[in-house]
Amino acid sequence: MNILTNEEKIWVDSQWEKLDKKLSKIAVRSREKIPFHSTDFMHDNRGGELIHLWTNGFWPGLMWLMYIGTKNDEYKKTAETTEKWLDEAMSTPERLGHDVGFMWRLASGPHYEIDKNQESWNRMRRAANVLMARYNPAGGFIRAWNWGATKGEKAGWTIIDTMMNLPLLYWASLQDEDPRFKMAAMNHTDKAMTSHVRPDGSVRHVVKHDPFTGEFIGEDETACQGYGVDSSWSRGQAWALYGFILGYIHTGKQEYLDTSKRVAHYFIANVCKDWLPRADFRSPAEPVYYDTSAAGCAACGLIEIAKIVPEFEKRMYLDAAISILKATEQFADWTTDTDYIIGMASGAYNNEQNSNFIFADYYYAEAIYKLKGFEPLFW
Ligand code: GLY
Repeated sequence: MNILTNEEKIWVDSQWEKLDKKLSKIAVRSREKIPFHSTDFMHDNRGGELIHLWTNGFWPGLMWLMYIGTKNDEYKKTAETTEKWLDEAMSTPERLGHDVGFMWRLASGPHYEIDKNQESWNRMRRAANVLMARYNPAGGFIRAWNWGATKGEKAGWTIIDTMMNLPLLYWASLQDEDPRFKMAAMNHTDKAMTSHVRPDGSVRHVVKHDPFTGEFIGEDETACQGYGVDSSWSRGQAWALYGFILGYIHTGKQEYLDTSKRVAHYFIANVCKDWLPRADFRSPAEPVYYDTSAAGCAACGLIEIAKIVPEFEKRMYLDAAISILKATEQFADWTTDTDYIIGMASGAYNNEQNSNFIFADYYYAEAIYKLKGFEPLFW
């Protein structure tokens, strides 16, 4: 990014070098894995029975980011291996949910951008069909999850995470010159602006709607990955912050930019004490659960906002993004003895706290990739 100061550029370069130094080794060591988490410091493998997991695009996505920035073929080999494994997930699409955007936008999208190969295009196009088939026309939203205890139980449920899956639909509309995919994505985004984003810029994780009319029923009473009802799960805030600015980038609709900024202001106000997001912004002071995946994802969204807003607005968003990333780096393990990089991420407020996840590594690297000025946008 050309508005970085010299000092910032030096720091960004150092982060990219550290990422490459470590990941060029791990790319080879974990080539036959799709990691989710490191246990005893080594990557686990979510291939096989776990191939449908929502996180299975982050490892190839990370490999593509590093390949684009370094042109080291070891990254490409690992990305291609994993991308092919995901075909097994697509062979049983009834087991997939709304997360197909997370999976194939990252596993196949960059590959298609680089090589213009038909197979990656096909994979993304099939994934877009799976996502589109989840669209509820009465409510104008995309159903998040599959069956719960009963078949109809989750038919009207939306979750804020879906915002990050919508770029796959914008891509499909452009490819087919067919506005349906874009319309579905925009209808969902419009719905999320009112159902999920509260007037103060905080965001509900799970919202129930009547699946026949689309009417808003209320927030899910379990609060799902957050602390409780009316709380504010930080990764959900980050999904919204980044998801709405991506919606603006793909459509130019002003309300999406405004909504992303509103969520960003709320996010910044909640982290500015030490620039480290707690797992939920509205939870007791103790115990302290961090979520560095929310940090990386929010930083990516803040950088995109900074690119778009007028000159005298840019620094506020960029300063916040860099402060968040610098604070996060204190939890980075740059040694090659371990497979993960970023620690202190939480699966949920009530589960898997202060741990490591591939998506925390991914978003940290994506933010540094953006600050280096690399293209394309992965979403
Ligand atoms: N999309 C699931 C999560 O953020 O944990």
